[in-house]
Amino acid sequence: MAAPNIDTIVSLAKRRGFVFPSSEVYGGLGSAWDYGPLGVELCNNVKQSWWRWLVYDRDDIEGIDSSIILNRLVWKYSGHEATFNDWLVDCRKCKGRFRVDKIVDNKCPSCGSSDWTEARPFNTMLQTKLGAVADDDPTALAYLRPETAQGIFINFLNVQTTMRRKLPFGIAQVGKSFRNEVTPGNFILRTREFEQMEMEYFVSPTAEHSNLVDYWVEKYLEWFGSLGLDRENLYLYEVPEDERAHYSKRTVDIMYRYFPEREKPWEELMGIAWRTDFDLSAHSKNKLDAEGKRINPDSTEDLSYFDEPTKQRFYPHVIEPAAGVNRTVLAVLMDAYSEKTNDKGETRVILKLSPQLAPIKAAILPLAKNKPEIVGMAKAIKRSLQPVLRAVYDDTGGIGKLYARQDEIGTPFCITVDHQSLEDEAVTVRDRDTWEQDRIKVSDLAEHLQKRLKPFPVTAPESI
Ligand code: GAP
Repeated sequence: MAAPNIDTIVSLAKRRGFVFPSSEVYGGLGSAWDYGPLGVELCNNVKQSWWRWLVYDRDDIEGIDSSIILNRLVWKYSGHEATFNDWLVDCRKCKGRFRVDKIVDNKCPSCGSSDWTEARPFNTMLQTKLGAVADDDPTALAYLRPETAQGIFINFLNVQTTMRRKLPFGIAQVGKSFRNEVTPGNFILRTREFEQMEMEYFVSPTAEHSNLVDYWVEKYLEWFGSLGLDRENLYLYEVPEDERAHYSKRTVDIMYRYFPEREKPWEELMGIAWRTDFDLSAHSKNKLDAEGKRINPDSTEDLSYFDEPTKQRFYPHVIEPAAGVNRTVLAVLMDAYSEKTNDKGETRVILKLSPQLAPIKAAILPLAKNKPEIVGMAKAIKRSLQPVLRAVYDDTGGIGKLYARQDEIGTPFCITVDHQSLEDEAVTVRDRDTWEQDRIKVSDLAEHLQKRLKPFPVTAPESI
């Protein structure tokens, strides 16, 4: 079972401390969200899983962390200043403003009219100004990056030479990106500030690029599987030419069933694009156009690569898997959502998160909070587990309530310390999904939990 709709997750996320509407004390800020104590853990666990899977488990990928604000020329030559546009129209009747590609049957979503203004481009890069400058000083203009990818391209040579890399190899980066979205919405699905996990995989111009796109699609399907996403809720969309970014020769989107209640349930979770050699060429000082003129008179570097075996110099092509942290978190929450009825006929929410993603791995609960020996033992167990896994101590309710709260936030194990524990040095370990209970010696507890906290299986990644 998965969540029946996004609203179910919005309410759970707020109730249990995953995600709060941002700036709430001032009436909120449209489509901005703050991640609470459990949300930040979940996001970190997603990012760590991704980083471990690509940068540590493989041998062909390096990581970087570039600036969010880059030289404005990066965005000129990447094409973003000229083309990173949404096309907008205004409804003449209700004055609403909409993205052309989101209008269905030529009808205004607000009032139903079909009386539109001419479509015009709106650049969605968020602007800022650097330094103590006059408001109208054009040289101070800078952008908050709309993708993490460009920080990778402009560091291609730095990484390749310092890490002595030969093709094929990749560079991964995770971090915030910003877009002045015209129609943000659907909770954390589309926001103006979001986080991306992008990887640029550099290959020879003669590589089998389309096969490499398929390869990375398969790899990401496996990774999403390891995060607990049901394959049934994922769908591959071969993006047609007229919908692709200008730099892409092929893009496959992995879509997730974010709207199970709708006739069209799918929305993009991530994209895998063959970006050709567009970006490395565009940022290079030596690249010439058809008339023999430098395409980039501002660049001081040539981002080409010398291939020793063939003694050829060329601009590598790029396969780019680009995923969103927030969309992954939303998909994970939706897929993990389930309900179960207890003996009393009450419905309980259980968040069946993959153990590697669960914000808290074990909750230590004293059965009697007015008994100092039991409380002392429970707190000591919490402290002893903390170095190996994220554990919390909780005595803020009766045991039934405490179990229900941990089930709802996806904690795989509840450990109960009772009167008997003081005698036999053992505790009860309760499984989130089955509600079954085992009696385990305190001395064996850490090992017992660690064995059962393995991520869902993922096929071992191999290098190409
Ligand atoms: N470098 C290529 C690139 O940025 P994209 O398809 O525009 O491609 C990649 O973005 C991913 O970033 C998306 O699949 C989505 O997961 C995430 N993303 C993009 N815009 C977003 C937004 N406004 N809010 C939340 N996530 C977004």
